[in-house]
Amino acid sequence: MFIHTYVIITVSLLLISYCRSIHAGSIEPEQPPQYVRDISHCSNNYNSPVRGRPTSIHDLHPGDIKAIAVIGDSISAGLAMENAQTECITNASFIEYRGRSFDAGGDEGSITLPNFINHYTSGKLIGSSIGQRPMPTCPDTFFCTEAPPLPSVDHFNAAIPSGTTKDMTKQINYLIPRIGKTSPLSNEWKVLTIELGQNDLAISCFPDYNVVDFTARMTAGLKMIQENIDYVFINLLSVSNSEEEVTITNDYPGYRKTFCDNPSFDIHDQECYCCHVPLGLGDTVIDANVALFNLALQEIAVKFRPRGPDATFGVLYQPFSLSIDSLPYTAISNLDGFHPNIHLHQFFAKSLWNQMFLPKHEKEHKLHYDENLGIRCPGEDDRFETG
Ligand SMILES: *[C@@H]1O[C@H](CO)[C@@H](O)[C@H](O)[C@H]1NC(C)=O
Repeated sequence: MFIHTYVIITVSLLLISYCRSIHAGSIEPEQPPQYVRDISHCSNNYNSPVRGRPTSIHDLHPGDIKAIAVIGDSISAGLAMENAQTECITNASFIEYRGRSFDAGGDEGSITLPNFINHYTSGKLIGSSIGQRPMPTCPDTFFCTEAPPLPSVDHFNAAIPSGTTKDMTKQINYLIPRIGKTSPLSNEWKVLTIELGQNDLAISCFPDYNVVDFTARMTAGLKMIQENIDYVFINLLSVSNSEEEVTITNDYPGYRKTFCDNPSFDIHDQECYCCHVPLGLGDTVIDANVALFNLALQEIAVKFRPRGPDATFGVLYQPFSLSIDSLPYTAISNLDGFHPNIHLHQFFAKSLWNQMFLPKHEKEHKLHYDENLGIRCPGEDDRFETG
């Protein structure tokens, strides 16, 4: 009996290893992806000669990308990313650190999506934001609804701090001469990230900002992009329950700074109107809308997905909703207890990059903050996922 079992086990093991070897012989053995702490540790020294421009969006390696662009709000503008080291703050404390913004920043050594891509383009990527600039302020609302671009810093980052889907046309019009069909980059591959909706949500207890309006404006915006910009891989980011964020820093008295000249001024009133509707009614509306907006974004992405094997345009939904419970207060700006600071920006950059290599069913559904999240090293044969 013992010998009998032994023989069966041995034969089974032999069979398994035999099947494995056939499998390995017929297709390339799959290497598990490598994750590193610093993109410079990823090999970009490939064996093959330099590739020509791919003809299809389904064949994009980071090294094929010639330019990066962004449509977004204060997060993409890098607002309030550096914690204030002073006792109290002033208007001048509100700085847009665009060069380190997770999806647009190109400052040397910064942990950003453009810098990850640039590792594979011999430093030739065009369009990343460089440096910083003061945020303009306006009476009554503090944030200005009309904030002119500053191309010498922004480059192809069209984000404006108060950006909602209502500003999409304006932002697209800024990008068209730079990356559109009549620009010098017309036929070069571009990555465009759309990070909008957080400000729509913050005022979604008002008419004109419900999911129907949001969907209509986002759809119209993408139509406009489709008509005017080609050879573009578009990341459409989902939205988060950011209305819950202030509760995190509220638990750490003294972390959030107050205005030197006006300690009772609560800037969060301006950042999230609906959060301050009595009895938490506004928060309830926002919470319901987060789910509705994300469903809408998924449907919109399907509508504008890459069509056919030769597509040169396509929108990819990137789940980007942050698990607020996973967030330490130290990853939120101490200027307002609301904006992501440098730690969260770096996590966002790594998350977005990693998501771009995962097919739909493998993408992280919800992002759980992890300061040690690894950066994926794409191999020579890896491509940005389009399915
Ligand atoms: C700060 O900005 C607001 C909005 O523009 C303005 O009303 C206020 O006077 C400014 N404060 C200072 C000290 O300049």
